[in-house]
Amino acid sequence: MNLYLISVFLHILSAMLWIGGMLFLILVVTPFLKQSDRMNSAQFYRNAGQRFRKIAWMGFAVFFVTGVFNLGYRGVRLTDFVRPEWFGSPYGKLVITKIALFIAILIVSAVHDFWIGPAATRAVTEGGKSDPAAAEKLRKNAALFGRINFILGLAMVALGVMIVRGVPRF
Ligand code: HEM
Repeated sequence: MNLYLISVFLHILSAMLWIGGMLFLILVVTPFLKQSDRMNSAQFYRNAGQRFRKIAWMGFAVFFVTGVFNLGYRGVRLTDFVRPEWFGSPYGKLVITKIALFIAILIVSAVHDFWIGPAATRAVTEGGKSDPAAAEKLRKNAALFGRINFILGLAMVALGVMIVRGVPRF
């Protein structure tokens, strides 16, 4: 029982850190940096992005380990994923949707953190003067992938709440 409580605690703490971190970037950092010059913004995004990336990927590992543990504690077995009466059930669909969204988050994060994000900051800090349009396009794509991840993150929280407390009836 104690291990389960610690697992749920770590799971929710990781959600607070990751979602809270993205919210801070979107609501506080980005509007502030819009007022300062591009070079400074790009350098800040590169440094802050690299630090937050480490935290986010450590969080993903915690989500996975505690998520699997929580599922096990709630009686979900690997064999359930091949049982039509389970994966067709409302609960089974919730769990499968959550795992599928988690895989999508890992892909979107990998593209953003290791490809588009670094390319965007590089384009601004190194080549921004020579090709500002390309730099701007990369920056917009990086921002778009960041926002997609934020929305997927909110969906993960909603799915977590529904796994524990049931699906809302409107
Ligand atoms: C981006 C990743 C994730 C986020 C943001 C997230 C968020 C949450 C939140 C906020 C809760 C608590 C809901 C509540 O107590 O009302 C929760 C619960 C839960 N999550 Fe996740 N989660 C993530 C990934 C995962 C993964 C990958 C799994 C499975 C492999 C998982 C399985 C669960 C389970 C089983 C619960 C119920 C915990 C309990 O027994 O109280 N989660 N999740």
